[in-house]
Amino acid sequence: MSSVGVNVPELDSIELGLFVQALHKRHGYDFSGYAPASLKRRVRLLADQLHCKTITGLTERMLHEPQLLPSVLEGLTVPTSDMFRDPAAFRALREQVFPLLASYPQINIWQAGCAHGQEVYSLAILLEEAGLYDRTQIFATDLSDRALQRASDGIYPGKDAQQWSRNYQAAGGTHSLADYCSAGYKLIKFHQRLRRHVTFAVHNLAIDGVFREAHLILCRNVLIYFSDALQDRALALFRDSLVRGGFLCLGLRENLNQAPHAQDFLPFDAALRIFRLAGRADGTYA
Ligand SMILES: C[S@@+](CC[C@H](N)C(=O)[O-])C[C@H]1O[C@@H](n2cnc3c(N)ncnc32)[C@H](O)[C@@H]1O
Repeated sequence: MSSVGVNVPELDSIELGLFVQALHKRHGYDFSGYAPASLKRRVRLLADQLHCKTITGLTERMLHEPQLLPSVLEGLTVPTSDMFRDPAAFRALREQVFPLLASYPQINIWQAGCAHGQEVYSLAILLEEAGLYDRTQIFATDLSDRALQRASDGIYPGKDAQQWSRNYQAAGGTHSLADYCSAGYKLIKFHQRLRRHVTFAVHNLAIDGVFREAHLILCRNVLIYFSDALQDRALALFRDSLVRGGFLCLGLRENLNQAPHAQDFLPFDAALRIFRLAGRADGTYA
């Protein structure tokens, strides 16, 4: 206990609440719907990285040094990703979902929380190999415009290439990953032609609206950071964005659980967290 009878974890919670409020008021980003334990961990880490002794010290810097905002957002949102992350999920998209999407003349895919874009390029490659890419539009969105800039550049550390090649093969890739990128000094850059049907845009799942007529939504490893209420908001957005029978792909550690909007989705491949928006009462999707 401190001298005023408040223990350290409680003090941290008070400071965290004030930080979240200040970030919202100063910069318009509302993190009040994020799961508190992991948010607190990331805010503490960020405070350490920016040499602030306390969360309050971080709040002060965030308020008075607006140039820190991109770093603050990056620290809070964990923009880590991989090419063909969880290859089995990408293999299921290729083998089970794409053949069903192939019946649409135009395919709209929303990738929400695309971070630095590795999954965007993964999808583009699989769609190209399935012969579907030239009638697909991918909307790749994220809260962070810094992350989106990195995604649009498509440049990554070369040290990841071997693992990503293995992931690509495990996802059922029919060529070589090297066919889709050029390697330079310690870097790889994905060919810009892979971006020809991609639109990158800022979109905040906590406050923004729907994307109409989506046939597939990938939102992997994003909901895990949200509170139950914010997860449910996102699920309502996904439901309202998808066509009947449209697909939702979550991360392997995420599930629909007891969320009120979970009942709108049916398991398609439950183990790989692929769901389908329920169809009509007679079971049809048309
Ligand atoms: C761990 S990454 C996941 C990247 C990728 N989907 C994957 O699974 O590899 C989480 C991403 O979600 C984004 N994010 C966090 N909160 C968000 C929100 N409210 N709206 C949109 N994107 C958000 C972060 O900026 C980050 O890029």
